[in-house]
Amino acid sequence: MISKFTIQKINDEARVEDVVGEFVTLKKRGANLMGLCPFHNEKTPSFTVSPAKNIYKCFGCGKAGGPISFLTDSQQMTYPDALRFLAKKYNIEIEEENISDEAKQLEVEKHNLVESIHIANAAAQKFFSDYMTHNESGKIGLAYFKERGFLNHTIEKFQLGFAPEGYDVFTKHALKEGFQLEILKKAGLTSPKENSTIDFFRNRVMFPIHNMTGKVVGFGGRIMVKDEKAPKYVNTPESEVYLKSKILYGAYFARNDIRKKDECLMVEGYTDVISLHQAGIENAVASSGTSLTIDQIRLIKRITPNITMLYDGDAAGIKAALRGTDLILEEGMNVRVVVLPDSEDPDSYVKKTGADAFAQFIKENCKDVILFKASLFAAEAKNDPIKKSELIRDIIESIGKIPDTIHRSVYVKECSQLFDMNEQILITEVNKIRRKKAGDQKQEADKQQQQDQKKLDELPQSLHTEQFNETTSNLHILERDIVRILIEFGSWKIGEGETEITVVQYVLEELDGQHIETSKYKMLYELIKHEFAQGNVHDEKFFTANDDPRVTHTAIEILAQPYSLSDNWLNKLKIVVPTKRDVFIKDIASSIMRFKQFKNISELKKNEQRIKDSKDETELMKLMKLHKLLIEQKKEFARTVGNVIYRPTT
Ligand code: CTP
Ligand code: MN
Repeated sequence: MISKFTIQKINDEARVEDVVGEFVTLKKRGANLMGLCPFHNEKTPSFTVSPAKNIYKCFGCGKAGGPISFLTDSQQMTYPDALRFLAKKYNIEIEEENISDEAKQLEVEKHNLVESIHIANAAAQKFFSDYMTHNESGKIGLAYFKERGFLNHTIEKFQLGFAPEGYDVFTKHALKEGFQLEILKKAGLTSPKENSTIDFFRNRVMFPIHNMTGKVVGFGGRIMVKDEKAPKYVNTPESEVYLKSKILYGAYFARNDIRKKDECLMVEGYTDVISLHQAGIENAVASSGTSLTIDQIRLIKRITPNITMLYDGDAAGIKAALRGTDLILEEGMNVRVVVLPDSEDPDSYVKKTGADAFAQFIKENCKDVILFKASLFAAEAKNDPIKKSELIRDIIESIGKIPDTIHRSVYVKECSQLFDMNEQILITEVNKIRRKKAGDQKQEADKQQQQDQKKLDELPQSLHTEQFNETTSNLHILERDIVRILIEFGSWKIGEGETEITVVQYVLEELDGQHIETSKYKMLYELIKHEFAQGNVHDEKFFTANDDPRVTHTAIEILAQPYSLSDNWLNKLKIVVPTKRDVFIKDIASSIMRFKQFKNISELKKNEQRIKDSKDETELMKLMKLHKLLIEQKKEFARTVGNVIYRPTT
């Protein structure tokens, strides 16, 4: 095993720009370098490398890390392999620590096992495909797919195949090819029973399941005739490479279209995915008949915040299925629901109507999940007060899962109308749930958000008469200034030639890792960030004439305000606020600086309190260290604030 000392040395020496530069073409942009993200497909670069911080970060998919994690995550190297790669690159001698040969062996074995399973799966996929197209007794599989309307290019794209009848046709073939029986069993291709060489998949049409990098990690095998005794589908058991909860069928083929449409269609089955893709609706993935796991949801969240669930027309399972959507809401994503006409699934329905009509149907029939649930229940519980209160509780639970305050309050409003209930009661109930969920500490934050929300509700009357307590007021105004800059100057350019960047990029980079707390500004900030990740930088009009009235409202409110900090606070800090557009660069830089300074001071205060409260020695040490760091920062800010000059190259 590589010694800690060596790892330290590698960490000290490795330069992120060198390492990333070997795999990604980078261009200089300001202080950073930019290129096309290796973790997701994109056309305009949002992958940023910061030599100063020795890290990379993608504004598109959120992946971030240092030289070592770049190699392990983007190049699929194991951790030791990455270390060896870097040691070689930087001429660092590797010192092996005295660790048992056994442990070393284990690590190598694990690595080899995963590799071997991948190879076995790839070979199996090829075997099943070849068998279907070239072997006489495999043609029955091809006929089945053709009968279902799958065209040749679809069959090839999804690498569909056929697993022969008989007991061990595949296993025998694989053993002859030199595969070890052990590996075939571990891959789930051969029955795991001892001494058995029986094929796991027999006489079934085969759907290979791909991971995000396009490797085959498992299979679904479908029976071709109706048989009450045999399961319709047989799926690869969990293996070293196939963890059902982390895989979505079709995601590899769908990811580009999901990004393009900023929406993911969630269907149930293999055939639904394939038929939709064949029809040109390529943003569909399947949960494979089970409810979504948190890992699957996050897989999508990296690409889009919007999920549309397509449910089959037979309403039986819908309510149960809806329960599964709470997990998605909890991730802060938008969930919409479409119920297909009676006894249709996406596969059958798209074949019946064609792509255009199908897309139209989705567009016209998709409903927000909570409102859908509410209307479904409202009808059902009309004359049954006990049922009604149960159902309302159910919906309130769902609303309580949504992290965003504004979204929550919109739902509360709608539901209070639907159920003809007092809005305030609903709010109280939702908040109860959230408090229970987050514990006392979070309670404070909620109160704050509620206050913000109230302010937002009272607009525009309060537009010019904002009254906040001093601390929130300062933060609120600072945050408003940041967002105002993004809206007003976002598309302006700073720097020259090679180093020219938009103001949006500059601000987002500068504020990387900082949070906007005031909810309405946060909403705009997140929108801008999201748009930037998609390669979009907008000017004022986009915000002031937005489809979303909340965006329009807040943007106008911000632009209507003079660009100013509370005089009171300014005097205290002796800051001169520049107001003219022609000094806007200085303007921006100092706004950012003031924002960071504010954060620094409040962090410092919080930390001081923690130090007072701390009873634990080691914790105290940590807090003191942080204290020192914050004080350093404070001094630094004090020197720069009010005297900021933007230097494009530093
Ligand atoms: N499924 C499974 N095992 C079963 C039945 C279903 O794993 N015994 C999973 C499969 O991933 C399947 C999905 O649940 O694709 C949806 O099931 P179903 O709607 O019954 O199948 P379809 O995909 O619609 O297949 P077909 O159109 O061929 O009936
Ligand atoms: Mn079907």
